[in-house]
Amino acid sequence: MIVSGEAKLAGVMGWPVAHSLSPRLHGYWLEHYGIDGAYLPLAVRPGDVEAVLRLLPRMGFAGVNVTVPHKETALGAVDTVEAEARRIGAVNTVVVGPDGDLTGRNTDGFGFLENLRSALPKWMPDRGPAVVLGAGGAARAICAALVDGAAPEVRLVNRTPSRAEALAADVGGPITVVPWAERNAALDGAALLVNTTTLGMTGNPPLDQDLTDLPTDAVVTDIVYAPLQTTLLEAAAARGNPTVDGLGMLLHQARPGFAAWFGREPEVTAAMHAFVRQGLAE
Ligand code: ATR
Repeated sequence: MIVSGEAKLAGVMGWPVAHSLSPRLHGYWLEHYGIDGAYLPLAVRPGDVEAVLRLLPRMGFAGVNVTVPHKETALGAVDTVEAEARRIGAVNTVVVGPDGDLTGRNTDGFGFLENLRSALPKWMPDRGPAVVLGAGGAARAICAALVDGAAPEVRLVNRTPSRAEALAADVGGPITVVPWAERNAALDGAALLVNTTTLGMTGNPPLDQDLTDLPTDAVVTDIVYAPLQTTLLEAAAARGNPTVDGLGMLLHQARPGFAAWFGREPEVTAAMHAFVRQGLAE
């Protein structure tokens, strides 16, 4: 892909940023749609986030994604924070406006819902109670999306109860906090189980979750995508539950940013999923 002097510019700010799959996935779309643009990894140290964000318009950037550990800092550094990002407490997408103003958005909840909807077209959040494991930033976005999608109940299970209580208070809606020790019994009658903890990720301890009480038609999804087939997804598939892997959430959350910066609504396809998956193996 040749980048001209008029190329549109975007990137991902993180520290470290080398592990990020975002340059690969945005690069795929730029190439696929023949767009004159570039999406770069931006290794920005904590402490420099605000200054770098402020320089974006002055360097002609259309915007950036923001990843770990900068998502909360970015929320306080932009001019306008969209309501959903404020509720979640984190910004993952920044769009530079025509006057150089910065708008912060959070597209993780959108990515979560779109991933499930595209894998299972009949799935709706209002189908029944959801069980969410974990109460970090990703869980905040997912709980907000489920509550807004009319989930009748969200059972929020976290090792540290105070984090779950804070999430429930900030997000609002029918969220009940369940002790970590009761995570197996919490599956009774659930229509959805989501793992947002880091358990099961390569290099981390496994997630010890007994699925006996989970109805076999409940959807099981994991936001961990390294490995792609976590032991949770394997165990769920083995007993007949529909499963959805976490890589799709990463791909779908990228869509609104790409559309805003590069002016084209991109599509998540099987070919794209395979291309980004290949990046996981490298
Ligand atoms: P993110 O913001 O990306 O979702 P995070 O804030 O680091 O990530 O959250 C990680 C989640 O994994 C948290 O819910 C964490 O539980 P605590 O709030 O109790 O820390 C959960 N987690 C990590 N290691 C865990 C473990 N060994 N047992 C249970 N939960 C764990």
